[in-house]
Amino acid sequence: MFTLFPGMFGGVLGESIIGRAMAHDRLEVRLHNFREHATDRHHTVDDYPYGGGPGMVLKPESLFTAVEAALGTPPSCPVILLTPQGKPFQQKDAERLAQFPAFALLCGHYGGVDERIRQHLATEELSIGDYVLTGGELAAMVVMDAVARLIPGVLGSEESPASDSHTTGLLQYPLYTRPPEFRGWSVPEVLLSGNHQAIARWRRRQALLRTREKRPDLLVKADLTEEDRRFLNEQEP
Ligand code: ADE
Repeated sequence: MFTLFPGMFGGVLGESIIGRAMAHDRLEVRLHNFREHATDRHHTVDDYPYGGGPGMVLKPESLFTAVEAALGTPPSCPVILLTPQGKPFQQKDAERLAQFPAFALLCGHYGGVDERIRQHLATEELSIGDYVLTGGELAAMVVMDAVARLIPGVLGSEESPASDSHTTGLLQYPLYTRPPEFRGWSVPEVLLSGNHQAIARWRRRQALLRTREKRPDLLVKADLTEEDRRFLNEQEP
């Protein structure tokens, strides 16, 4: 992570699954405050935009120097700039990035970054959604978290990502745990039946119905079997 606000990452890196993975050396996240690479007396990292206009622009020097000091020239791994202009981040990007031994996340702040950072330092740009955050840090944490949980050993064996929403191209089926009845709402009978084949069929069908209801855009792209299609056709949309 290359950021001006490394303190923002403390909670995320210290708690829960990510905290456990870091403590067990299954995941390493290095925080680089690139302000430390600014060479002027005030450690300036931003400046007014050429041509005028509102907002400040992140200067290129200290970010380039920080990245090159850590990763070499040119950097030996993907260098990802978080920006609302980036490609929308999706599960398949997380799967792709999880294959690299390392990658760098660059967090911009202020009104935007000098264009030379995009063109000559970043190897790709990612956005976590069509809204504007105050900086790239929260977006970088989202990307880091989504990738980290795909790295072998980060999730426990009981936290397998195989049936996650998006991994299969469908939303996840409904989950229930004890008690079997809560405030008069009971767990679907099939889940208590012990019939694994029936449970698997029910889950697949629920995932199909739920995806059609909540995210019809995903269903269009999903890998459906003949049986899936027949089932959906039989159901009222
Ligand atoms: N920086 C500011 N907004 C962002 C977004 N939506 N995605 C990624 N980086 C950002």
